Amino acid sequence: HTASPNAGATRGGFSSGLGVLAATLGSAVGLGNIWKFPTLTGANGGAGFLLVYLLSTLLIGLPLMVAEIAIGRQARANPISALRQLRPHGAPWWLIGMAGMAAAFLILSFYSEVVAWVFAYVAKALTGGLLSSDPAQTQASFDALVTDPVQSLVWQWVVLAFIGGILLLGVTRGIEAATKKLMPLLFLLLLLLCGYSLTLPGRAQALAFLFAPEWHKITPAVVLTAMGLAFFKLSIGMGTMMTYGSYFTASQNIPATATRVMLADLSVSLLAGMAIFPAVFSFGFTPSAGPALVFITIPAVFAQIPGGQVLLAVFFILTAIAATGAMLSLMEVPVVILHERWGLTRPRATLLTLLVLVLLGAGCALSQSTLAQFRPGGRTLFDWADHLSSNLLLPAGGIAIALFVGWAWGERAFAAQLSNHGELGNRALARLLCLLLRWVTPALILLVMLAGLGVFSG
Ligand code: PFF
Repeated sequence: HTASPNAGATRGGFSSGLGVLAATLGSAVGLGNIWKFPTLTGANGGAGFLLVYLLSTLLIGLPLMVAEIAIGRQARANPISALRQLRPHGAPWWLIGMAGMAAAFLILSFYSEVVAWVFAYVAKALTGGLLSSDPAQTQASFDALVTDPVQSLVWQWVVLAFIGGILLLGVTRGIEAATKKLMPLLFLLLLLLCGYSLTLPGRAQALAFLFAPEWHKITPAVVLTAMGLAFFKLSIGMGTMMTYGSYFTASQNIPATATRVMLADLSVSLLAGMAIFPAVFSFGFTPSAGPALVFITIPAVFAQIPGGQVLLAVFFILTAIAATGAMLSLMEVPVVILHERWGLTRPRATLLTLLVLVLLGAGCALSQSTLAQFRPGGRTLFDWADHLSSNLLLPAGGIAIALFVGWAWGERAFAAQLSNHGELGNRALARLLCLLLRWVTPALILLVMLAGLGVFSG
C-alpha cells in the first residue's frame, strides 16, 4: 500500500472471479434501477422509452463497457494514467479521465441526496411511519421530507459519512462480501413485490404501459434520455469501468462479464418496473409523478400486504445497500486519481473527495426547499446535476472512449484483452467491436445528443 504513482504490483485488485463480478454488478445496480428507471420510464411514456433504452444498452452500452474494462486492465492504473500510458503521444486522451472525475462529483452530489431519502425512509419505516393505503398520505410524507432543509442536509451528511467510513476503514472486502449475500435478497424481495403487484387491478394497464409502445411518444428528447440512462446504468462514459477494469484478474473473461452484468442489471430494472407500475395504476397515481414515484407507490403497496411495515424497511435497506455499491464505485474515480496522480494518501484523497461532496451536495439537497426558487434555465440544481451528467458528460465521454479504442489504441491491443475466445475468436470479436467503436458508436451518440438537445429542430 504505497502512495507512489503507478505502484505496479503493489496496487490492490479484486481477488477472484466472483469478486470481480460482484463488484462490477455492484457498481451497475443501484438507484438507477429502483429509482431512476421507473421514474424515467413513467415520465417518458413507457414502452417506447423502454425499447430505446434496450437498444442503447445493446448497441452502445455493451461495446463501451467492454472497451473501458479492457483499457483499465491493460494499463492497471487510474483513468488519467491509463490513457497516458496507452497513448503517450498525440491527442490529450487523458482529458477523458478529468471529465470523468467531474462527472463523478456531479453524479454523487444528487445521488447522495436520493440515498439520503432512502436512509430517511429506512428510519421512518423502522419507527412505524410511512405506511398508508391512502396515496395522498404517502405523497404528503415524501413532500414533507424533501421540502425540509434540515432533514435533507442531515441525511445527506449521514450518507456521505457512511460511505466515507467504509472507504476509510478500507473494508471494501466487507462490502463486497455483504453485497454478494444481499443482492440476491434484493432480487427475491423485488420478485415478491412484483408477484403481489401483478395481482392488483391495475395490472393490465401497467403491462400495456410497459410493453406496448406508443410510437408518437418517442421524440428526440426521449431518445437522448433513454441513451443517457443506458450510460448511467452501466456506469460507463466516465472512467468508472476503466477503474474497475484495472482491478480485474488477468483470467477474467471481459465480454462475458460485461454481458452478465448487463443482463442482471436489466432484470433488476424490469422487476422494479413491474413492482411499481401496477401499483401506480391501481392506486390512482400518475406514471409521470417524477422523482417521488418510488417513494410514494411502494409504501402504498406495502400497506396492503401483511407484515408490510417490516418489508418496507427491508426494501429500503436493500435499496440502500444496492446504492452503496454504486456510490463506492463513483467515489473510487476521484479517490484513485487523487491518490495515484496527485500523490495524496488514500485516506486524504477520500477526505478531500468527501469535503467537496458536502459542499456540492448541499446545492442538490436544498433544491426542493431553501433553493427551490433558484432555477437557472428552468431547472433546479438537482435537475442540472442529473441532466448534465447523464445527457452530456457521459455520452461525450462515451464518444471519446469509442474514438480512443477505434482509432488510437488499436485492434491488436484490444484483442489481447478479450480473453477466452481463442486466438481467432478474439480477433473476430475485436474486429467487430473496433468497427463499431470506430464509426457507429460515436456517430450514433453524437446524432442522439444533437437531436435530443434540439439542434436539428432549430
Ligand atoms: N450505475 C449506477 C446506478 O444505476 O445506480 C449509478 C452509477 C454508478 C453511475 C457509477 C455512474 C457510475 F460511474
